Formats: sequence, C-alpha cells, structure tokens
Amino acid sequence: MVIKNVCCIGAGYVGGPTCSVIAWKCPDLRVTVVDKSEMRINQWNSDKLPIYEPGLDEVVMECRGRNLFFSLDIDTAIRDADLIFISVNTPTKTYGVGKGRAADLKFVESCSRKIAQVATGPKIVVEKSTVPVRAAESIINILTANTRPGISFQVLSNPEFLSEGTAIEDLLNPDRVLIGGEESEGGAKAIEELSWIYQHWIPAKKILTTNTWSSELSKLASNAFLAQRVSSINAISAVCEATGADVSQVAEAVGHDSRVGPKFLQASVGFGGSCFQKDLLNLVYIAECLNLPEVANYWQQVINMNEYQRSRFAKRIVECLFNSVTDKPLAVFGFAFKKNTGDTRESPAMYVCSHLLEEGAHLNIYDPKVAPDQILQDLTSAAMTSEPERVKRLITICDDPYEAVKEAHAIVILTEWDEFKSYDYNKMLLQMKRPAFVFDGRRILNHSALIDLGYHVETIGKRFTRNALVRNAGSSYPAFSWTV
Ligand code: NAI
Repeated sequence: MVIKNVCCIGAGYVGGPTCSVIAWKCPDLRVTVVDKSEMRINQWNSDKLPIYEPGLDEVVMECRGRNLFFSLDIDTAIRDADLIFISVNTPTKTYGVGKGRAADLKFVESCSRKIAQVATGPKIVVEKSTVPVRAAESIINILTANTRPGISFQVLSNPEFLSEGTAIEDLLNPDRVLIGGEESEGGAKAIEELSWIYQHWIPAKKILTTNTWSSELSKLASNAFLAQRVSSINAISAVCEATGADVSQVAEAVGHDSRVGPKFLQASVGFGGSCFQKDLLNLVYIAECLNLPEVANYWQQVINMNEYQRSRFAKRIVECLFNSVTDKPLAVFGFAFKKNTGDTRESPAMYVCSHLLEEGAHLNIYDPKVAPDQILQDLTSAAMTSEPERVKRLITICDDPYEAVKEAHAIVILTEWDEFKSYDYNKMLLQMKRPAFVFDGRRILNHSALIDLGYHVETIGKRFTRNALVRNAGSSYPAFSWTV
C-alpha cells in the first residue's frame, strides 16, 4: 500500500498539532482531521485556532486548504483514508466499574465501530490516544468481527509524547517515535508504512518499533516516570522548608549525577494537565486488576504527593495571611496548568483557588491565555464546589495584572508564565494592602528583589528567616520571610 490519504479522528490538543506537522512535513500526503464537535472544526478553520501552541498558527496557515483539511464529514474522511489515527480523548471514567481510576475507552470504541462500518478498503488504524495495555485488542476484535470481502485492517500503537506548550518543537524534534504492531508479516508492513511517514523529517534511528503491548505500556510508564520525578522533588521541597535546605540547590546537586539528569527537577505547586494524573490512575487500576497491589500502591503515592503539595501550598497561604483570607482580595497570576498553553485540565491553580475560595477569599484571577469563561466554568464545576453562585461572587477575572493587584493582600503565582517575571512589582506594591505578600508557587520570581521592595515572600522548597510580623500576629504557623 502506498499511503496517500491520512485521516485523524479527534481534532484536540494531540490530533490537531500532530496532523498539522505531518501535513507540513509530508506535502505528498493529504491529511484530513475530523471531529464530532462542530465548534472545534469551525475554530480550526478560522483565524483563531481552538488551542494555543507556540508555532502552531504558522504551520496551520501554511498547510490548511493545501494538503491539510479540518472536516465534520467523518465517514468520507475514513472511507478515503489509507491510514487513520485515532486521537480521541480517553478520560478517567466517571461512572461504573473503575470509576475515578480506569480510562474511559468509549470514544475509542465508537471510532473503531465507525471505521468498521464505513470502510470500503484496507486500512491501517493507528491508536494514538493513550490507552490501557491491550486496548488495541478490543479495536482489533471490533474491526475483525466486521470485516467484509476486500477489507483488511492492521492496528498499530503509536502513542504521542508531545508536551503542551512545546508541542510543535516536540513534534519536529522528538526524542523518539514509538510504533508498536502485530508480530507478523502484515504487522511489520504496517509499521513500515507509518514509519515512512515519520521518516519525512525524523531520522530512522529515532523510530523505535516494539510489539503492540510494549508500546501501549511504554506511554503509561513514561508519564508515570515523569510524574514521579515531579512528586519526588516536591517531597524533598517539604523537607527543605523544614530544615533550611534550598530545593533548587538540592535539585542541582542531584541533577548533576548523570544517572539522574537535570530535567524535571523543578519543585512547584504540583503537576497538572490532562495526562499525568489520568495515566497514573489508569496504571494503578491496571495493577490492581492484575492483582499487583504493591505496584498499585507505589504509583498511587505519586498522585497522593501531588495532592499533598497543592493543599500544603494553599494552607500555607491562609496561615501566612494571619490564618484568615475571608473577604480578602488576592491576586492570582496564572490559571493554565503550565506556561504557553491555555489548557486548564487538572491545573494545580484550580485546586489552590478552590481551597482559597472555600476560605472566603476574593480572587482577582489573571492568565494571559485562558479564556474567562473557562476559569469560571472550572471553578464553579460540581467537582470543585457545591456552591457555584457563591464562588461566582468571589471571583473577578482580570485582563490586566495591574488591575488584579488593586487592594490585594497577596500575589499568588500559580503558572510559570515568563511575562510574570517582567512586571513592575514596585508599581504593584503601591496598589496593594500592607503587609503585601508574594506566594510564588512556581519559583520564578526574583525573591531577593521583591524583599528589597518590601514584599513578604513565600515560595516552595526554601526556608526563610523567621518573620516577626507574622509570628507576632498570632499565627500558629511558623511563617518565614527572607531578610536582607
Ligand atoms: P482532546 O479532548 O483535546 O481532543 C479529543 C477530541 O476528540 C475532541 O475534540 C472530541 O470532540 C473528539 N472526539 C471524541 N470522540 C470522537 C468521535 N467518536 N468522533 C470524532 N471525534 C471525537 O484530547 P487530547 O488532549 O487531544 O488527547 C487525546 C489523546 O491523546 C488522549 O488519549 C490523551 O491522553 C493523549 N495525549 C494527550 C496529550 C496532551 O498533551 N493533551 C499528550 C499525549 C497524549
């Protein structure tokens, strides 16, 4: 088979950028991205794309209408395609068996049924969504149960390793591309076909091939290892605060060990995003189902540590603000789960804000890329509060950070956006209540400069010299602030 037409089902954070880059690097292919959401497809066909990713607009503008198409006509795209990526969401189940832990595969299943129903010729079906080990087996079963004369299917696993915020860079220069397939002649041929697409711009030595189950498990394992590093350094950050060690110095010393390496050792308010927690929960669930409780407990602890870090930070804010934030305006900088994305799924900001709202704080929230409606929707969702009307009254979404700090008792940094580093904090201080606090949950600001200006600074993973102001105010929390 010579691949000419590629279809991708799911125009989300993975399907959109991945297929845009494929279209850009493979002008000999026609790439059609389909979705059941009319709004999403309309946005992909508009000047304002549904997701923000550095470099994405340029790639889409160059290819759209040439060899890249966004469409709602799923049947035609499947029928015309030689190779179909399934890039639909696989969220944590919210009902039934495995609720709160297992991955919900209903969208993957419905894509498989759709492909089986409308295909009129042979197809390579590529599982790009992150799925539990052996999920491809269900896809194969659905497809083979519906095979008609002249139609054959090969199912591959090709998990995506891109990171939001650097998606285009990651897609252009991946550490590796992983392709898993059936250990048969047909499987090997299908792997070769998909590999040929990637080889338009990725050196062959970076394309790893495995059996299907290893490929599926490698994606879950990769995310588990990454999340574990974040939780490991965050666990150490709590020890630093209690002892006088500085987590950035510890991270540097540890990261210089070539067996450990320096990446992903940045202590923070915790990891977020649609993947780490979901994939860890999925791994825990699989281990439980396989009767491996020790394995399940081990990975569960990575999630527990992340929750601990978020709530530890939120409690510290309340305690430092004299044990009460009720009716106090606080400026919140950042709501996205990381910089350079507008995605808020599982953002630590959501959890910290929710804790502060529970305590009655008034939050003036500013994020450079997250839409106001999204912030409101997240904080008033049933998962976050049972009192959405009260929460609405306590939130102001600001489009200017200098507005957000007016009369505020504190600035709370929850996303590591670069622009936060270049604000005029002197000008901000003049607008704030005294004492004015900065709680840097991402360790991005120049703390000694802020202290020079007159702020009380609290951050993660560093113990401060005892601050008489806070102690004398009757706080039971041993709050610290830097002295100069
Ligand atoms: P997303 O939620 O942004 O996009 C999924 C899209 O699939 C939605 O637009 C939805 O309308 C569409 N969809 C669902 N069922 C459909 C159907 N039957 N027919 C047509 N369209 C359908 O999800 P995202 O973030 O792109 O993730 C997709 C998969 O990739 C997930 O399994 C995720 O775990 C994985 N992944 C995500 C990464 C990320 O950074 N977001 C990174 C690596 C993997």
